[in-house]
Amino acid sequence: MTTFDQILPSIRGVLHAQLENLKKLERLVINRDLNGRVRLVVDEKVFDNTEARAALDAIVCALAECLGSHSFPAERMVLFESDVLAVMQGAPNFNLEGFSNVTVVDRLAAETDWATIAPIATGARRTVFFSIKGGVGRSTALAAGAWSLAQVGKRVLVLDIDLESPGISCSLLPNERRPTYGIADWLVEDLVDNGASVFEDMIATSDFSHDGEIYVVPAHGRDPGEYVAKLGRVWMPKIGADGSRQSWSKRLNRLLDDLEKRWQPDVILIDSRAGIDEIASACITDLGAHTVLLFAMNSEQTWSGYRILFRHWRRTRAVSDIRERLQLIGSMIPEVGGVEYFNDLRENAWNVFAEELYDEVPAGELIGDYFSFDETDQTAPHYPLPIRWHRGFAALQSIHSHLQIIDFSEVTSIFGHLPLIEENVYV
Ligand SMILES: Nc1ncnc2c1ncn2[C@@H]1O[C@H](COP(=O)(O)OP(=O)(O)OP(=O)(O)O)[C@@H](O)[C@H]1O
Ligand SMILES: [Mg+2]
Repeated sequence: MTTFDQILPSIRGVLHAQLENLKKLERLVINRDLNGRVRLVVDEKVFDNTEARAALDAIVCALAECLGSHSFPAERMVLFESDVLAVMQGAPNFNLEGFSNVTVVDRLAAETDWATIAPIATGARRTVFFSIKGGVGRSTALAAGAWSLAQVGKRVLVLDIDLESPGISCSLLPNERRPTYGIADWLVEDLVDNGASVFEDMIATSDFSHDGEIYVVPAHGRDPGEYVAKLGRVWMPKIGADGSRQSWSKRLNRLLDDLEKRWQPDVILIDSRAGIDEIASACITDLGAHTVLLFAMNSEQTWSGYRILFRHWRRTRAVSDIRERLQLIGSMIPEVGGVEYFNDLRENAWNVFAEELYDEVPAGELIGDYFSFDETDQTAPHYPLPIRWHRGFAALQSIHSHLQIIDFSEVTSIFGHLPLIEENVYV
């Protein structure tokens, strides 16, 4: 019996065997619906074309037999459309591997698909802090990064988009400085065209910036209010008066653009959610990130999570749009046995990156002509920028108070080159 993972390989098998028939169709769209059931969409001209129709029927029969529960019955499998390309609009789609004229349209219950990568934003550099597992020191590193950048005179905008488990605002703002509103408030107000009434009161400046300035936009305001009720609505797309539809992540992007215009930061740091999650997808793929920092502890779960994600990017042909923006971070390198730990981490990272993200270099060709790196290449995306485990940061009640007493050399000794990554000093 065919299961979900066999759908695409099975279709490829059938189409390889039916190549001559496929040529008679010009273009074939495979629609995989919300239940994982397959239908074909073809041009309505095929309907009256005897030769093309016979070719299509042969493909349909073979697919119905092969896909079992994962296809519509043969007599209901085909939709004839006057504009086949219109079927793909607004839905994740990608070319079926090995077939330039076959497109898979993948209907997902989630809004984001991890595979449509927005171009890099043209204004201030946007850096996303992401990890597969939670609790790896993402928010702490972001706070230290913001602090360091402010120390060298930068205006830093920090967004807490870890809406379901907010954290960074507590790290950077003492309670009395928190603003009245947060990102969740804006997302809810925007649905009823009322975003402007919270826009000016959703940002606060951190008090430990010296020469620069740190602007913090929290997930919620000082009083979270009906946060759960708001959180249940932030995901809503906005339907305009003209019927146009803007997904929640596009709305978030609009907010970010407006905040950038209003506060004119030099750099933007974004605390994403952990895991293969809808918010994380929006942060990584939809916000025009220049750099995506992938935090990793050396565990089986971390690598299998990154492998799933990278493989998805490869399958959906998104890989070349995203891989140059990635940088691995080795988080909380232990005090004892740190060198061995780091080497092991680097080796595991290289295995995953080399197998899933890097180009294969054909024998006899130069590695420099391809997106491919040696394991020991320190400029490679897989080569971890280390963050040391440090007792001063372990189980802190408040990073905010700790950052007020720390100095630059201590931050650099723990967080290495990471804090200044935005300045492109080291990377
Ligand atoms: N370099 C470090 N050395 C020691 N402890 C650290 C370090 N960085 C962070 N910690 C501690 O690890 C814990 C998790 O840190 P943090 O909240 O920054 O992680 P996170 O990845 O943002 O977690 P979450 O997924 O919950 O948002 C905190 O108790 C923090 O004080
Ligand atoms: Mg966090």
